[in-house]
Amino acid sequence: MKKYVIAIDGPAASGKSTTAKALAKKLKYVYIDSGAMYRACGLMSLWEAVDLNDVKALSKMLDRIKLVIKYSEKGNKIILNDKDVSERIREADITRLSSQIAVIGIVRTKMVELQREMGKHGGVIMDGRDIGTVVFPEADFKFFMIADVHTRALRRWEEAKSKGEELSLKAIEQELIWRDKNDSEREISPLKQAANAIPIDTSNLTIPQQVDYLHDIILRGKNA
Ligand code: DC
Repeated sequence: MKKYVIAIDGPAASGKSTTAKALAKKLKYVYIDSGAMYRACGLMSLWEAVDLNDVKALSKMLDRIKLVIKYSEKGNKIILNDKDVSERIREADITRLSSQIAVIGIVRTKMVELQREMGKHGGVIMDGRDIGTVVFPEADFKFFMIADVHTRALRRWEEAKSKGEELSLKAIEQELIWRDKNDSEREISPLKQAANAIPIDTSNLTIPQQVDYLHDIILRGKNA
């Protein structure tokens, strides 16, 4: 079977990464979480105290960024300049910073270049905000996942709870609304559904239902 390029876009907590990971396992594809790359950029700017308004400093930082995604059955590891940052980049300060740094043109240019390189041989599922519109406009399959904000906040709340963290549901919801707005209203590569993407509302779907839905479409071999 042809090794497809599969793009999954959508807002935060819409079910993209859970679905993409499970689908990659089923298809024996590589899963690439493009959001983790923006998160790593945010973390590096914090390490180096780079002012996000200083294009020269940012550009120098990007010249030195080394991002490696280590594939593993238990979940990919994100290695930033030889340091495993997989857990650190999931913390709240980096979540916000990643959305802020992702509006900057030179950051996006660099990340898109790396993402295209990673996906050039196919057999890859990449999730993010601009994968079907900008990174791989010729992707074999494009999906756009959405879910209502309350459901998404609840998912994040439950995820945190399972790790022993007690968060405020209201605060999570407000943060998601802020991030949706920031990601959708930026000038460069905003979060938006590609014209030929298949929309999926996951609000009332279980994870196996989501995965099967995409899997069936891919097995049929047609993006429609
Ligand atoms: O998917 P995520 O929540 O880990 O992404 C973190 C931030 O990175 C998100 O708020 C917007 C940005 N991002 C982006 O601009 N383009 C992508 N392809 C992926 C993520």
